[in-house]
Amino acid sequence: VDKKDEKLTTNPQIQEAALWINKNEVVAFPTETVYGLGANALSDEAIAKIYEAKGRPSDNPLIVHIAKESQLQNLVKSIPESAEKLMAAFWPGPLTIIFESNSTVSSKVTAGLSTVAIRMPDHPVALALIEAAGVPVAAPSANLSGKPSPTNAEHVLHDLQGRIAGIVDGGPTGVGVESTVIDCTSTPAIILRPGGITREEIEAVIGPVAVDKALTEKGQAPKSPGMKYTHYAPKAPLVIVLGSNTFMQNLIDKERQSGKKVGVLATEESKQRYKADVIVACGYREDLKTVARDLYDSLRAFDKEMVDIIFSEGFPRTGLGEAIMNRLEKAAGGHIIKE
Ligand code: TXA
Ligand code: MG
Repeated sequence: VDKKDEKLTTNPQIQEAALWINKNEVVAFPTETVYGLGANALSDEAIAKIYEAKGRPSDNPLIVHIAKESQLQNLVKSIPESAEKLMAAFWPGPLTIIFESNSTVSSKVTAGLSTVAIRMPDHPVALALIEAAGVPVAAPSANLSGKPSPTNAEHVLHDLQGRIAGIVDGGPTGVGVESTVIDCTSTPAIILRPGGITREEIEAVIGPVAVDKALTEKGQAPKSPGMKYTHYAPKAPLVIVLGSNTFMQNLIDKERQSGKKVGVLATEESKQRYKADVIVACGYREDLKTVARDLYDSLRAFDKEMVDIIFSEGFPRTGLGEAIMNRLEKAAGGHIIKE
């Protein structure tokens, strides 16, 4: 579907997808971050199908997507002031807010927690689909569990063909990394997952926030169940390299000398500086939005090339760089080499 279509809610493809959701089946759809795998958040039967299609551990709760703010009060016990302000500033948009649940959504959505994660996506196709379905739509990223999240319909097809009722193809997503998850049930609010809305942007609206310790310290259990799993991983091992181009090149050369096919994740600015078997440029370092946008497609590109090992440049941990480094670290299983 064309996301610029004026009458998306009556678009036949969106109508068909909404019908599947009403029949408690699962369909993939685009959001501004990544493709989601949507199902009726009120139905145990529908939600079970999401976990099954993705191979997702059942203790990892889902985000509920809404199209209008009026849907929110039906799902939560209360709306804290911090959440009010964040919604006014960032919804629709890549910010997921954790509320106390009033247990309207299926307990499978919340994986038995007393809280529920809610967001209003900033994508006309997603909003039209939720509206046409007439129910809140639970949706994790539409990838097989552990794989990089899908940023176009092809990625979804690659992972989930034959496992879901269909995909609404709305072209490539824009933001490229998932929404920021923030817990507004405590004061100050706590960022559980860095994402499309930066900590700096959030603090400009509600003042200082906390960041889940598990994001910065080893050995801490994350407050967001999903953050404990290895994720975003390409097939080959990935290593983040923090150092000069020469340092990186030495690592590449050593692996190539032992007969390995070596991939490098670089940027448009730096891609000419390396000699390796496969070099993928992931956006412009100067503009981290382009790096976030291309990150998962770049990671998936190495699977097609069947490399044996991947070395990746690192990024500054400020602004969108926090989300980018968080995803790269997960893809690398924490493997970082410093010069
Ligand atoms: O951008 C996004 O957020 C995408 C699109 C499709 O909206 N969705 C997405 O969903 O990334 P998923 O399931 O891949 O990630 C949801 C994250 C997980 O880390 C999960 O543990 C966390 O949100 N989460 C969900 N409900 C929670 C809750 N009640 N408390 C804490 N964390 C929660
Ligand atoms: Mg995911």
